[in-house]
Amino acid sequence: MRTVDLIAKKRDGEPLTREEIEFLIQGYTAGTIPDYQMSALAMAIYFNGMTSQERADLTLAMVNSGEVIDLSAIAGIKVDKHSTGGVGDTTTLVVAPLVASVGVPVAKMSGRGLGHTGGTVDKLESIPGFHVEIENDSFHELVNRNGIAIIGQSANLTPADKKLYALRDVTATVESIPLIASSIMSKKIASGADAIVLDVKTGDGAFMKQMSETKDLAACMVDIGNRVGRRTIAVISDMNQPLGFAIGNALEVKEAIDTLKGEGPEDLYELSLTLGSHMVVLAGKASELVEARAMLEHSVKSGRALEKFKQFLAAQGGDATVVDEPHRLSAAPYLIDVPARKEGFVSAIAAERIGLAAMKLGAGRATKEASIDLAVGIVLRKKIGDAVAEGESVATIHSSTEQAAEVLDLIYESIAIQPGQVERPPLIYEVIG
Ligand code: URA
Ligand code: CA
Repeated sequence: MRTVDLIAKKRDGEPLTREEIEFLIQGYTAGTIPDYQMSALAMAIYFNGMTSQERADLTLAMVNSGEVIDLSAIAGIKVDKHSTGGVGDTTTLVVAPLVASVGVPVAKMSGRGLGHTGGTVDKLESIPGFHVEIENDSFHELVNRNGIAIIGQSANLTPADKKLYALRDVTATVESIPLIASSIMSKKIASGADAIVLDVKTGDGAFMKQMSETKDLAACMVDIGNRVGRRTIAVISDMNQPLGFAIGNALEVKEAIDTLKGEGPEDLYELSLTLGSHMVVLAGKASELVEARAMLEHSVKSGRALEKFKQFLAAQGGDATVVDEPHRLSAAPYLIDVPARKEGFVSAIAAERIGLAAMKLGAGRATKEASIDLAVGIVLRKKIGDAVAEGESVATIHSSTEQAAEVLDLIYESIAIQPGQVERPPLIYEVIG
């Protein structure tokens, strides 16, 4: 096989075979196929797309390029949840203990990640003592005993994807749906999930801004999962405004705790129940969504979900008293309110710009090496459709310095207020799978 012939085949719109895809991915990972040939191939895929079979073959080839996590020592069907990324998305912190509390085993691998705020691991590290550096054996044991544990990302997961994603980033080939779908799915499959619930975000603050492309991506990922024997469901949810009110690490932990108590933001609770219900059904703990949802609601009302969260924190060295005493979480020294400049109704909360404002405060990393401030962030006071009085606070900035003029401007630019009533956008658009 010659790489150049395979590039020509893809350029001419012909599908590649499994053997050809494996040859390309293995060669690229090993370094025998150079970046310039892989760039040409990625561009050919960008223009010509991939068949359903090619996408599944590419995904599995990337899975097999590195370590594949074996969760067979854990009893039950392991269902993972993945979000394509939004602003102030705290659902993992809610959903994980919530589904674990009704018997769905949660064996999650989470990372730190780049972005407006930290990843799940960063957020959890705002709880004194909590850590994810645990051995595989004790990870399995914890899930078997408590039903939930979170371990740090293995360094050798899908090396082919790491290399290819970095290459796509500098060759204008990130925006290819088959490449995005196989990239995301390869990481989930290599992490050992038996079944996968995807939260595919759409809108201003999402990776996918248009509904038609969001649906294509969701359908593509569901198809890959099902083809390779992992039951997969995608929920398309709104990211035209941040999820919940809090954007920031410790602030989102507090928001997750409130939600597990049944006192959190409505949208975060609703999305958590929706994603959680699908996980419960996929795990075989309920046969219908309505039954699954009732189990989860009961778990919140009875306090079981919150107890599960405490047990999970304590088992990984965390100070579980933060759950009852959230003031023990790290807190920023300066709270700066953002008073509305006019009265009316909130018509837009530009999620991406609010995310940027949180990042400017230090809540997220722009580069892998950057450090983050777990205490800082933004707490919104309004959602789209809410009425506002002039001078009423629409948000509070949690800052490490007294000066936050730039962040204040960004928030003013993000929140639009108009005189007439505004319809609230839907939270969930569609479920695929
Ligand atoms: N996120 C990923 O993990 N991969 C992509 O290709 C795009 C977004
Ligand atoms: Ca939030």
